[in-house]
This record gives sequence, structure tokens and C-alpha cells, in this order.
Amino acid sequence: MAICPIVPVGGPAVWHRRVRAPRSCCPSRLPPERAGGRQTRLSPCGHRGRGRRAAGRSRRPRARLGGLPSRVSRARSLLAKATGDAMTTAGARTPATRAPGTRLALDRPGTARVHDYLLGGKDNYAADRELAHEVLAVLPQAGDAVRAAREFLARAVRVLAARGVRQYLDLGCGLPTSEALHRIAARHATGARVVYVDDDPLVIAHARALLIDGGNVAALRADVRDPGSILGSPEVRRLIDPAEPVALVFSSVLHFLPDAAGLVAALAAPAAPGSGLVVSHATADFAPGAFAEAAWRYADASGVPLIPRDAAGMAEILGPFRAVSPGLVPLGGAPFGGTSRPGREPIMYGAVGVR
Ligand SMILES: C[S@@+](CC[C@H](N)C(=O)[O-])C[C@H]1O[C@@H](n2cnc3c(N)ncnc32)[C@H](O)[C@@H]1O
Repeated sequence: MAICPIVPVGGPAVWHRRVRAPRSCCPSRLPPERAGGRQTRLSPCGHRGRGRRAAGRSRRPRARLGGLPSRVSRARSLLAKATGDAMTTAGARTPATRAPGTRLALDRPGTARVHDYLLGGKDNYAADRELAHEVLAVLPQAGDAVRAAREFLARAVRVLAARGVRQYLDLGCGLPTSEALHRIAARHATGARVVYVDDDPLVIAHARALLIDGGNVAALRADVRDPGSILGSPEVRRLIDPAEPVALVFSSVLHFLPDAAGLVAALAAPAAPGSGLVVSHATADFAPGAFAEAAWRYADASGVPLIPRDAAGMAEILGPFRAVSPGLVPLGGAPFGGTSRPGREPIMYGAVGVR
């Protein structure tokens, strides 16, 4: 069986070991000479595959998009009201094309909607559910892991609020499936102010429809890889006082982004002393083979990379932020040195930092 070199993407050695590739890790094991002339793309495990589903061919027929027409029109009207953007049931959505104004594809899984499904939400479509089940087939703990990350977020907000942080930037906020951050913050910090940021127009449409967009809460459609547009936005200028500590919240989002440490550093640069950083992030440290397979399925179906990071990668993201006790923790599953059973290993890290 071939040995699959796990190649770190855009950063330090995230996967530093060589692991045996799962049988289905690379759908196409054509030798290069036979693959010649065909469109190939690099799998997360370093092999060249043909990206069948990214190219529009799925392994098995897709389920019908249950209830799509009414839910699409509801989503479309929300979207039109909130953003004025076009939404269709076709089109590409890749990290490179997710600029504001990009058409939103509902026949292709979206990170926010797959996450919503894993959390038990209802704002998802057949393509999202199909991918979620493909991930759960190899990482059955994925549902527990994303719920553990949301619980971690609630604890982190409580910790930072106790330190006097009253301003929160929720970056890659996602659909409002779990309790919204501004409600959690309001319980622990009087007068807490929150700006939700996401580049998915549907997420922002939901945020604006369901949250009180005004007062102490705002929703901003922006790409977290563009810190300037976030820090200079009217929403942030209205609600975030640069002279006061602010919490930067990255809950289950940085593992989609190659230069995570760089963008965190850029967003944190103007933050006042006493500011906080909350990160929950995927890791392959405890279940490398299963994670590699899940990451490949995720990228193949959605076009979005899923980049795990190890403890060193997490330390790089924290940068000048000092981790608050108990430091870097695995979320869900058994703690370090515990007796995890296969399928129960942690696949997320969490950390809260202050500076
Ligand atoms: C897995 S969901 C996590 C949602 C939420 N933070 C939570 O923990 O429940 C990731 C979210 O990040 C958003 N996202 C991914 N890449 C982004 C980017 N470059 N800029 C802004 N948002 C992004 C997605 O649209 C999605 O809503």
C-alpha cells in the first residue's frame, strides 16, 4: 500500500508524520502518466486526484433537494433584503471566489450549512447533509466536536467578560444555530457589544433577520482575510472602541484558512491591552488517518480545504496572547493521555488567550 505524505498547507508542519493513506484517501490512484491530459487537483493528502465532485460528478447520485423551492425562495428573499446579492442554485464557491457579490451555490455544500447540520440546525440543504454524513462516516465524533466547540465558546466568553471585556468580534460567525454570542455576552457583561462577521451572504442575511441589527449588535459581510475592510467598516467603527479591550472570536473557522496566524495577528494588531482571543480549531493529532480521509472528503465536495493544526500551530495562532488556564485543551473526547476509543478521539483544540 502506498505511503501518503501528509503535506502541511501554508504554514509550519501541521501534519508532521507520515501516515498510511486510507484506501479511499485518493479516489484516483492513476499513475501520473495515465493521469496526463486529465484535469487533476491536489488532494489534502498530497496525491493528485481528479476532484470528481468538484468537477460536478458525485460518487453516487445526490439526494433530491428536499423542500428546496420554498426554502430557497425564503432564503432568496432574506438575502435580497439584507444584501441585494443574487442567489442561484448553481455556480462555484471556492475560497478564491468567495468575494462579496459571489453567487451562492445551494447544490454544493457550504461550510456554514454543513456546520449547521452537524449542530442539529435546519438551515441546510441536501448537499450539505450528504457531506456531513460522509464526514460522520469516518469521524463519528464530528457532531460532538462542533457542539463541544460551541460550549467552549460560551465558557470563553464568560472568562473574558469576568476580565472586563465588553466588545466582541465574532469572525466567521456562522448561522445562528446555537445560542448567539451577544446573548451569552449580555449575561456576563453589561452593555456588551458584538459585531458578527462572515463572508457567506446567507449567514449575514440570517444574522440581520434574526438578530437585532442595531443597538449593541451588528452583522457585517466581509472576508476575514481582509482585516482592513473589517476594522475600517462602519459597523466596527460604531461598536468597537479601539481604546477598550476587545475579544477576537474565531470559533471553528481558522481551519479553513491557510495563513491563520497572519490574519489573526493583523486583526489583533490595533487591539488594546487586556484584549482576548478565542480559538477553536480542528486537529488531526489524535486521529490522523480518519481526519485525513474526512478532510479529503470535505475538500473534494465543497472545494474548501480543511487544514488541521497541531499544538505548535495553535501556539503560532495565539502569538503574543498568553493562554488562560488550563491552556490549550482538546475539545470533546478524552483529554491528553486519556483512553480514547477509535471514533471518540478529540478532533478540535480550544484556547483562550489574553494580552
Ligand atoms: C464551521 S462555521 C463556524 C460557525 C461559528 N463560528 C460556530 O462556531 O458555530 C465557519 C464559518 O466561517 C465562515 N467563513 C469561512 N471562511 C471565511 C472567510 N474567509 N471570511 C469570513 N467568513 C468565513 C463560513 O461562512 C462559516 O459561516
